[in-house]
Amino acid sequence: MLVNAKDMLNKAKAEGYAVGAFNINNLEWTKAILTAAQESASPVILGVSEGAGKYMTGYKTVAAMVKAMVEELGITVPVALHLDHGSYEGTKRCIEAGFTSVMFDGSHYPIEENVAKTAELVELAHSLGISIEAEVGSIGGEEDGVAGRGEVADAQQCKMIADLGIDMLAAGIGNIHGKYPANWHGLDFDALEKIKQATEGMPLVLHGGTGIPRDMIKKSISLGVAKINVNTECQLSFAEATRKYIEEGKDLQGKGYDPRKLLAPGFEAIKATVKEKMELFGSVGKA
Ligand code: 13P
Repeated sequence: MLVNAKDMLNKAKAEGYAVGAFNINNLEWTKAILTAAQESASPVILGVSEGAGKYMTGYKTVAAMVKAMVEELGITVPVALHLDHGSYEGTKRCIEAGFTSVMFDGSHYPIEENVAKTAELVELAHSLGISIEAEVGSIGGEEDGVAGRGEVADAQQCKMIADLGIDMLAAGIGNIHGKYPANWHGLDFDALEKIKQATEGMPLVLHGGTGIPRDMIKKSISLGVAKINVNTECQLSFAEATRKYIEEGKDLQGKGYDPRKLLAPGFEAIKATVKEKMELFGSVGKA
């Protein structure tokens, strides 16, 4: 069932677990994540970066595919279709295209401009029943051309943005997109604690979920994180399984070159990774 992310995140925060937001790239990715969610009886968020939206030929294609797939697969768990790190224009386009949730990432603007643009988009999204995420203190690393310096968010600025009525807040706490370097300092839990206090009641979002150790994930959830984004880990699982299939020469056996066979190991690998994350985040059985 396609819904916005508001109720699923408020429930997660109240009950002490997090909903996974997994990025989609194509039909296989979408089907793998939806199937994993249904089999785990877990709510799920499908994240779409602007780059992936373009790759899939546009937001209307994505919205139509997800809407139809939820129906055709008989998915009964709550599913939100969410724009990930949207620009001001991209956010408006996804709202028009039928997304049920959006993220406006204004973290690279001066705070006054981030506040003004977020406020405008909150009004627009809410007038159509769409949930909205905003960001303060950019996430480090690079994702689909969106690069951040990995700042730790200021709690007062978080409060300014949270007070605009957003449904979830992404606040940088030393997390980065992609693989973590060996010399990574870990998450800044003092900063998270301050942000939690300043924005009491607000479901917080942890980006860069790939490679964060289990204990840090659990601690983040105990400090108010209700949405955790994972992208790179599914890409790595897919690539590894596909490489193995080809290296074993399976594409050359019988009709092993049939795309439905060639992409099957990668599909299963994404599904397994998503299920593992849902278990770790505590969302299994919460749909
Ligand atoms: P990872 O690619 O590090 O898992 O980050 C995903 C993310 O935060 C999407 O916004």
